[in-house]
Amino acid sequence: MPYNKCGKWGLKLPAISLGFWHNFGDGDDLDEGRRIMHRAFDRGITHFDFANNYGPPYGSAERNCGNILKQDFATHRDELLIATKAGHDMWSGPYGEWGSRKHLLSSLDQSLARLQLDYVDIFYSHRPDPDTPLEETMGALATAVKSGKALYAGISKYPLPMLKEAVAMLKDMGVFTLIYQPPYNLLSRGVETAGILDFLKEEGIGCVVFSPLAQGMLTEKYLTGIPQGSRAARSEGFLSAEQVEEFRPQIQGLHGISQARGESLQHLALNWTRHHAAVTSTLVGARSVSQLDDLLDSLQSDPITDAQLKAINEIAPATDRGE
Ligand SMILES: NC(=O)c1ccc[n+]([C@@H]2O[C@H](COP(=O)([O-])OP(=O)(O)OC[C@H]3O[C@@H](n4cnc5c(N)ncnc54)[C@H](OP(=O)(O)O)[C@@H]3O)[C@@H](O)[C@H]2O)c1
Repeated sequence: MPYNKCGKWGLKLPAISLGFWHNFGDGDDLDEGRRIMHRAFDRGITHFDFANNYGPPYGSAERNCGNILKQDFATHRDELLIATKAGHDMWSGPYGEWGSRKHLLSSLDQSLARLQLDYVDIFYSHRPDPDTPLEETMGALATAVKSGKALYAGISKYPLPMLKEAVAMLKDMGVFTLIYQPPYNLLSRGVETAGILDFLKEEGIGCVVFSPLAQGMLTEKYLTGIPQGSRAARSEGFLSAEQVEEFRPQIQGLHGISQARGESLQHLALNWTRHHAAVTSTLVGARSVSQLDDLLDSLQSDPITDAQLKAINEIAPATDRGE
């Protein structure tokens, strides 16, 4: 596993990190989940990415994996980077979401209890809140770091002007922004067109990109239909059959390029996210050990050539989708 410096900072992240949004909730096969966590760690994935509400139900991914972390990984705590986030819908009432100090710091305490940890490595503001002064949200991140409940602060999905302001504000509070977490894949390149990746590179802020496979659309399962058991067939509201249909021409075109390179579409998709100099790590989801193994094998691929990048841009040009 290659490890990349997180922007200019001293921390290194594995080129591929593992996300826990899906596949670790109460309805999932947690024996397989445990095997996925072991396999990931054995193959060098030192970075596990959670959020308060991953499941379903909300909180269950942290609770289920907290048990596994305690039982199987306690002696490896210093070899692992555990991230969590607050800001999306989590509990009922006025304090259960968004960017207030009350929400962020209560949520962090809840996450630590579910994960059975004394601290997390990275604590994120999960989304911008148009109704809370940035000062309040950044103040909560700074408190999380200064209290030792989080080692580093991260920001997810903020638009560029707000991101710039947040980074400056944290700096004034004596806390640096370690990392930014945006969606980024061949079908969703908004962070490129918005100038966010360039800003991160210039500032030396790390970048861990999520949904590199567009939730599975950039794999070979949707080339012609919607297979049973896939995310689009499970209709949990995150990936719909209509979205797959909309993108099928691009999916098929990109598949052609991957075939010409002698690799699968998912390998092309992962390798493509890594070609941008701002990207520190690519955050994947996996439903089984075999899926994870396959994704990790993409690290053996040849780099994408300029001619191949040009062909990719013709099929899947950068637009503001996914900013
Ligand atoms: N900050 C944020 O707001 C935010 C938002 C979303 C995600 N994230 C983070 O990013 C992580 C990754 O997101 P994601 O799950 O959308 O990532 P993804 O890597 O784009 O999609 C993962 C899905 O692709 C399919 N897949 C994976 N490997 C495969 C393979 N080898 N062959 C065929 N299909 C394969 C599986 O879906 P099937 O079940 O269909 O097989 C899997 O669940 C999340 O877990 C979370 O940590 C953050």
